[in-house]
Order: sequence, then structure tokens, then C-alpha cells
Amino acid sequence: TRKIIIDTDPGQDDAVAILLALASPELEVLGITAVAGNVPLALTQKNARMICELAGRPDMKVFAGAARPLMRPLVTAEYVHGKTGLDGPDLPDPTMPLQAQGAVDFIIDTLRAEPEGSVTLCALGPLTNVALALIQAPDIAPRIREIVLMGGGCFEGGNTTPAAEFNIYVDPHAAKTVFASGVPITVFPLDVTHRALTSRDRVEAFRSLGTPVGTATAELLDFFERFDEAKYGTDGGPLHDPNVIAWLLQPELYTHRHVNVEIETGSELTMGMTVVDWWGVTDRAPNATYVRDLDDAGFFALLTERLATL
Ligand code: BDR
Ligand code: CA
Repeated sequence: TRKIIIDTDPGQDDAVAILLALASPELEVLGITAVAGNVPLALTQKNARMICELAGRPDMKVFAGAARPLMRPLVTAEYVHGKTGLDGPDLPDPTMPLQAQGAVDFIIDTLRAEPEGSVTLCALGPLTNVALALIQAPDIAPRIREIVLMGGGCFEGGNTTPAAEFNIYVDPHAAKTVFASGVPITVFPLDVTHRALTSRDRVEAFRSLGTPVGTATAELLDFFERFDEAKYGTDGGPLHDPNVIAWLLQPELYTHRHVNVEIETGSELTMGMTVVDWWGVTDRAPNATYVRDLDDAGFFALLTERLATL
């Protein structure tokens, strides 16, 4: 099994990513760390616990991390995710506890305690917690197996500004720290997640599972796609974050290239832009595996098959 920590700001698509991870015996989820992003931290840590309980895993450890980005004020996305961040299903308030330890300390302690190169960080929100851990404890960098993150965009442009994707835009300084860390990084940008569309039949496949998880997933996606479908004029909205987990399970679903990615933090106009040297036109050293396309039917088949087991 592969050991992972999920850093997240649920978020309907984060919720589906967490469900996929908890449904997958190949993965050992050491803990879930919440960060402010789609909604404020008080809601993201609560939402993470709600999803663990939905998955039948009240034993999972959930930690709260940074309440705001490193340098900029928090920007949230209630216009996409609803007031709670998990609008759609009517899920009960969680009864499992929030861990007393902070998320950043948990990440650092875990990376120091586990064998070197054994823990993968899956980052599904702004990179504030991950950057803080790297800043506070640089010794953990060579111990991280890989950081797999959803963020950025190149060919698709941005979804929050014309130049920037939400997760990178919210904390560009954290993203810059992560991309400069020397840790192996795999990036799932809008270029690929915009091809993972929650069409009607795919949402109905979740509902047809006839389980609480299947029903809740369909209701999450019913709400989530309403915004993006209208915006992009597609059949369904993009299901971003579960791609990070699917990569760990079936990397053959994806095509990618090892390239240099830099983060813009100097310009207000293009703040948080991922500058991707796709064509190798600079001599900057590659620092990330940049994912470009997916087998979307295979991705949704994997999701449906795994969520059926919860
Ligand atoms: C990213 O931003 C959030 O709204 C989603 O959860 C995803 O992580 C997409 O830009
Ligand atoms: Ca997210």
C-alpha cells in the first residue's frame, strides 16, 4: 500500500476525492489536513469530517491547518460550492473529533516518523499547509515521495482570473514555495480536469449505486455541475480533485510531460499564473510532471467501481 496525506478544502470535488481514497485498498490514508480555500477553515475541517463519516471512517484523523494564505487575504468560492462548501446533499453534522494537533505539525511529524520516501502528499486546495510545513521543517523535503496536486492551467487559461486557477491564485506564494522545493511534483491542471466532465449519465451511475455514498455523490455533483455547466456550456462540470487520487491508482489513465513550471507572484494582472515551459523553450530545469490528458471514461469507471464498495 501507498501512504498518503490528503490536504484539502472540501469542496464537492474534494469530497469525491476523499471518498475515492478511502475506498481504495492500495492507499493508506495517514490523515486528512484541512486548509482554507473554497470556504473558510471552520467549514473545510468540518466538511472533511462529514465525508469521513459518510465513508464509514469516523476513526480517520482530521487536522485543521492554515486559516489564511501566507501573504494575501483569503479568497473563497461559495459561488461555486455553495455557502457550506458541500451544498447539495443533506449530510448530518459530524460527531467524530477534530484532532488537537495542527495540520502543519502533523505533516512534519509524520514525514519524520515514516520511512524516507514513503509518504505522498495529495494537495487538493491552496498549498498553504504544504508550504508552511516545508518552510518550518526543510528537512522533510527529501523525505517526501511525491507531491501530487490539483492546480494551475496553461492551455485552458484560468478559472478565477484569466491567468490563474483557483488553488494557485488563492495562495501563489505557497505554490511558489512548493514548486521551488525540489520535491517531485505531479500537477493536475485545468488542462486535464476540464476533460473530466460530470455528464448526466455519469452522475446517474453514482445514484444507481443505491447506497448512501452513491446518493450523496450524485447530489454533490448535481449541485457542483450546475455552476460549471452553465459557465462552460458543456454536458456536466469538471471533476477536478479526484484525478489526484486516480493517478495513484491508475496512472495509465493519463498522459503527461516532465517540464518546468514557475508561479507568477509579481504581477497583479497575472498573479498565480502557472508558467509552463511545455515546449522546452527555456533552459530552466524541469521540476514537475504536468498532466495533459486523460481517459475520461476510464476515470469515471474507476470512480464508480470504487465508490460502490463504500
Ligand atoms: C479547484 O478549486 C476548487 O474550487 C476545487 O475544489 C479544485 O480544487 C479547481 O480550480
Ligand atoms: Ca479543492
